[in-house]
Amino acid sequence: MCGIVGYIGEQDSKEILLRGLEKLEYRGYDSAGIAVLNHNGVHVFKEKGRIAVLREIVDASVSAPIGIGHTRWATHGVPSKVNAHPHQSSTKRFTLVHNGVIENYNHLKRDYLQSVHFESETDTEVIVQLIEQFVDKGLEVESAFRETLKLLKGSYALGLLDNQDQDTIYVAKNKSPLLIGLGKGFNVVASDAMAMLQVTDQYVELMDKETVIVKKDSVTIKNLEGTVIERAPYTAELDASDIEKGTYPHYMLKEIDEQPAVVRKIIGNYRNENGELTVDSDIRQAMIGADRIYIIAAGTSYHAGLVGKQYIEKLANVPVEVHISSEFSYNMPLLSEKPLFIFISQSGETADSRAVLVQIKEMGYKALTITNVQGSTLSREADYTLLLHAGPEIAVASTKAYTAQIAVLAILARDTARAKGIDIDFDLSQELGIVASAMETLVDAKEEMEQIARDYLSTTRNCFFIGRGIDYYVGMEGALKLKEISYIQAEGFAGGELKHGTIALIEDGTPIIALATQENVNLGIRGNVKEVVARGANPCIISMKGLNEEDDRYVIPTVHELFTPLVSVIPVQLISYYAALHRECDVDKPRNLAKSVTVE
Ligand code: M6R
Repeated sequence: MCGIVGYIGEQDSKEILLRGLEKLEYRGYDSAGIAVLNHNGVHVFKEKGRIAVLREIVDASVSAPIGIGHTRWATHGVPSKVNAHPHQSSTKRFTLVHNGVIENYNHLKRDYLQSVHFESETDTEVIVQLIEQFVDKGLEVESAFRETLKLLKGSYALGLLDNQDQDTIYVAKNKSPLLIGLGKGFNVVASDAMAMLQVTDQYVELMDKETVIVKKDSVTIKNLEGTVIERAPYTAELDASDIEKGTYPHYMLKEIDEQPAVVRKIIGNYRNENGELTVDSDIRQAMIGADRIYIIAAGTSYHAGLVGKQYIEKLANVPVEVHISSEFSYNMPLLSEKPLFIFISQSGETADSRAVLVQIKEMGYKALTITNVQGSTLSREADYTLLLHAGPEIAVASTKAYTAQIAVLAILARDTARAKGIDIDFDLSQELGIVASAMETLVDAKEEMEQIARDYLSTTRNCFFIGRGIDYYVGMEGALKLKEISYIQAEGFAGGELKHGTIALIEDGTPIIALATQENVNLGIRGNVKEVVARGANPCIISMKGLNEEDDRYVIPTVHELFTPLVSVIPVQLISYYAALHRECDVDKPRNLAKSVTVE
């Protein structure tokens, strides 16, 4: 997490840095800072809180053509002004911003920096102090920077200023994302192209353990041995309007509304000349060659993986295991003879998933990444990629990425089935078209969903989501959505499991959101609802047309029963949104969270 930016050119850098940080706030938002350098030296402004708070303390009279900035998600040390970046060396000659975690920072302090006084509790300060120490010992700054990097264990994206050199930003990357943006007479640095789209759409990717000397007219990439590396830039295919809220009060609401269009876009992007939804032949071959698929993901992406398992097993007849990435790396199951790994990640940067990818690549296995971000780490390091085409997802709560992940998994499963000669009795393109239309009806049901949030969630302490089969997985996703943005304690349970313990929590008025979209378990889930109602629960049943009963609170349009998660998730997203809104929570930036979880 954390986002970093840098600018070197001829304009005043302050506003460019602040606007860049505003675009990166999704990566962390507990404190922020910028450092700008001019002929009077370096000027550091930092504060606890959001970029808006930082804006208020930046001295408008300071003008400087070079600067770096940071928005923080705290790992080492509480959110505070003193722990906010940039951090400076003892003499204040060097100023640094850092995204990542230095695992051996305590050892480095002990082995190299015993006499140094540290201002903050951060791991970052160790880096800037080490650079100064190497320079004091007589190294040139560039060599001191590289020698320091060689000592670091962990992840970093770094931007460094030297107040004796107004012509250079020193940059380095390992495991944390970082891009260099190219302009005419200026260059920029950013954790994500979105941040600097305001000034350029030309970017150069950096690989791990590379350093960059960024000047206003040149960018020189080197490895840690100092060998120059040539790399062509690419054009970031992002539309500036994609990253604005427009007339919406929150990104989350905008992204919920975008879901029908995203499903249609996926249909368009994956359709071949025969009208079939297909993936690249090398991905298809990898799927056919696998005796077992291992899906690795976190959070909402894990929930999409659970649905994907159903598709791949039911349609393509390949066994699938779904694992939480942070558990898998330390507790690897016995693997089959010919496994294929599928990583699902909106951001493509989730550190827990990346740790597994590194592990399984070392073991010689193949990996496919399903992601929204082209060129992201998980995409670059996997053998194959399937893109979500969902457009930037900015709200911390994932919505359109979830439905896009499920749609892409359906296409992957369908195409594998076709390649294996398995007959499927429906046309996926047509079924997803029906799903997109049903989604349109649901995103228009905002008033009903707001009323449900009022009726069930305005004062409650907790809420349970129940379902059976595929509805259970949507319940888990609903609970995650509700808890992360409204702070109501919420859990998703398999309906039949309640009586094995959880039913003890049911009190008078406890809200239960039950999903009933599956014919084979419709009676079962309704039986479970009766059990909790008998103990005082307040049930809100969301069913599908054709399976609905009189007291159901909301009935979603009929879609193929395999694809109900794409549709039934929308009511739970909207209910969560309104519950958070009614409680005056910060919907897009919930407490303690960040969009891109780049620390393990
Ligand atoms: O970028 P990823 O899909 O790998 O992120 C995984 C989770 O961190 C993410 O889905 C998280 O659970 C969301 N905040 C849920 O809304």
